[in-house]
Amino acid sequence: MANVTVIGGQWGDEGKGKIVDWLASRADLVVRFQGGHNAGHTLVVGEQTYKLSLLPSGIVRGTLSVIGNGVVLDPWALKAEVETLRGQGVEVTPERLIVADTCPLILPIHRDLDALREDASGKGKIGTTRRGIGPAYEDKVGRRAIRVCDLAHLGHLGAQLDRLCAHHDALRAGFGEPPVDRARLERDLGEIADFVLAFARPAWAVLNQARRDGRRILFEGAQGVLLDVDHGTYPFVTSSNTVAGTAAAGTGLGPGAAGFVLGIVKAYTTRVGAGPFPTELSDAIGQLLGERGREFGTVTGRKRRCGWFDAALVRQSMAVAGVTGIALTKLDVLDGLEEIRICTGYRLRGAPIDHLPAHAADQAAVEPVYETMAGWSESTAGARSWAQLPAQAIKYIRRIEELIACPVALVSTSPEREDTILVRDPFSG
Ligand code: GDP
Ligand code: IMO
Ligand code: MG
Repeated sequence: MANVTVIGGQWGDEGKGKIVDWLASRADLVVRFQGGHNAGHTLVVGEQTYKLSLLPSGIVRGTLSVIGNGVVLDPWALKAEVETLRGQGVEVTPERLIVADTCPLILPIHRDLDALREDASGKGKIGTTRRGIGPAYEDKVGRRAIRVCDLAHLGHLGAQLDRLCAHHDALRAGFGEPPVDRARLERDLGEIADFVLAFARPAWAVLNQARRDGRRILFEGAQGVLLDVDHGTYPFVTSSNTVAGTAAAGTGLGPGAAGFVLGIVKAYTTRVGAGPFPTELSDAIGQLLGERGREFGTVTGRKRRCGWFDAALVRQSMAVAGVTGIALTKLDVLDGLEEIRICTGYRLRGAPIDHLPAHAADQAAVEPVYETMAGWSESTAGARSWAQLPAQAIKYIRRIEELIACPVALVSTSPEREDTILVRDPFSG
């Protein structure tokens, strides 16, 4: 089992970036397969902090990085991120970064539509990142997308633009907006084309060759299972499948490529944006978790909502995503708490229920059932071995493993790259 697929086990921001960066030292390629620049993955290496939205986290170590066809790509965001990273001393060259030539593009009209819809939705707002992710995926599925390969044939875009603009003009008219400025769109695409094309390749071919050569591939998921468009807290989700199975379709590799599925799971729960959150804490403890965990969105700067660990939710996530083992992150944030609560299931209108029901109204109505454990007074921050963990923290980890029916492979104890405990090497299966 040479490959590893990293996915978020909750509502995103579990610490995927840190873990992918750590694992990248053992990988030959790091590959993004879904989402777009709605992701915000943070890496801390010594004094430097890197924030990646579109680029695979392997780029910082210089590991060959691939943006797969399942990603929706904003070419201007790509350019800005590449320039920021170069400013931080990271080499981003076509030898180190490959962009699938079949990636659909996020265009300014997608960003417009995302914002127009959110602003018009009143209480029905999803709280998106307003980056045009949903509208771009809609156009992909609707067969209206402009793709990376189209940038090499801008003279032949006529019929495609007719279809795309006809659709968007109708939507824009409904919002009282002027039609798409087609000339400007064509000019903008013309200006950015060469930058993107320098990285464009048939990524599926590179990846299949790497697989045949026995290279280790690390797939980097974005968002989390509870934001998955099928399995998440619909409609308060993102517009892609975030489960591990997407690693195959989103790259052009077969279903056997995923290997060890590593679910990244935070030792408590956070969510940014709207939607149900059974264990949310609006009290001083929620405040404390937010401050200690520095829970502010990497992408939008929004304050993340915080709450206790929800084992019922994570058990469900692990099952639907086919997780092999987890990386438990941010354990240090719980240091010094007298008591720690874990949600083990719910009550829905008085009746016990062991999973999150499908309907949004039921999801909003479930009441968590908690068990309480004693906390630990010692610090776990910076621990790099199991032996450095207080007995009570180990008890907490073991209880989580039991409740979510999934073993721990890694534990993370600070934002810093090396503050990581290896329990079982995912690359060894
Ligand atoms: P991602 O979207 O899953 O990559 O996660 P983000 O980068 O958006 O958010 C995770 C935040 O927690 C970042 O600021 C990380 O630097 C930080 N972080 C990751 N692991 C740990 C940890 O074990 N302890 C602490 N205190 N912070 C962590
Ligand atoms: P990473 O990869 C946390 C959330 C948004 C919103 C919903 C839909 O850093 O974990 P979208 O812009 O995707 O249409 O927004 O999904 N969301 C995330 N929340 N982490 C992320 O990515 C997210 N990407 C999207 O806040 O609720
Ligand atoms: Mg994030």
